[in-house]
Amino acid sequence: MFGDSVYEVTQTFNGIPFLLPEHLERLWASAEKLHMSFSFTKEDLSAQIDSLIKAIALPRIYLRIIITRGEGDIGLDPSLAKKNNIILIAKELPENPEWWLTKGLSVIVADTIRTSVKSVDPGAKSGNYLNNVMAYEEAMKIGAHDAIMLNHAGYVTEATTSNVWIVQDGKVITPPLKAGLLGGITRAKLLEVAKKHNIPVFEENFTAKELRMADECFVTATTKQIVPVTTIDGNAVGTGLPGEFTLKLLQLYKKELGLR
Ligand code: PDD
Repeated sequence: MFGDSVYEVTQTFNGIPFLLPEHLERLWASAEKLHMSFSFTKEDLSAQIDSLIKAIALPRIYLRIIITRGEGDIGLDPSLAKKNNIILIAKELPENPEWWLTKGLSVIVADTIRTSVKSVDPGAKSGNYLNNVMAYEEAMKIGAHDAIMLNHAGYVTEATTSNVWIVQDGKVITPPLKAGLLGGITRAKLLEVAKKHNIPVFEENFTAKELRMADECFVTATTKQIVPVTTIDGNAVGTGLPGEFTLKLLQLYKKELGLR
């Protein structure tokens, strides 16, 4: 009802959910942003996730954790919700397609703009993703893979389910949280990895024009890791091939996080 829920997505590596403590931390932070209380602890939820993953016993599992504000009489009043519903979805996660790294993604800059931080804060990973659904549909209509959304001021925020980055003259740049976007866990880890390796990395606003002029562009998300973007609104980004910097960052990210 009303998209009044919060959620997380992660995946397993060898039966272990990737960065689960970080995802649970964000789940609780999202709930706090929406003044939603939970009737269970992180330990309770972890135990349920654990038994689900053991029961499924597949090598690579997509895990979605959804918590609704709760059951109760119909109405907008949050106090009507008496008890959270916990919905855990686990399914086989196929390997990411190879072409993501050899060809890269084509994206559009969507007409649909990202919700403002003064609306439902995009920093809360809520079940209300209709804005993103509409932006994604814009991309689908013209045969692109995804859409990048701007904010009300015309600055780039993020893609529909991933964070966006550009490389310009050797600088790696991602929009700041205050632009109105989800603080991705991959984003936070990649910022750490880049800083550790003395790569010049910045959280700075950039416009759609600067995005289109970038030397390289890529997106990040838990199950995607780092995926090059090679076409924006039908025009090649840089050489039109996955960028060298992007692929180097992917190698560093995987090495630092112990991924294959
Ligand atoms: N989405 N921005 C948005 C709007 C997202 O929905 C996501 C994740 C991200 C990347 O966050 P992270 O690095 O923590 O995965 C950024 C997940 C994958 C989803 O909705 O399926």
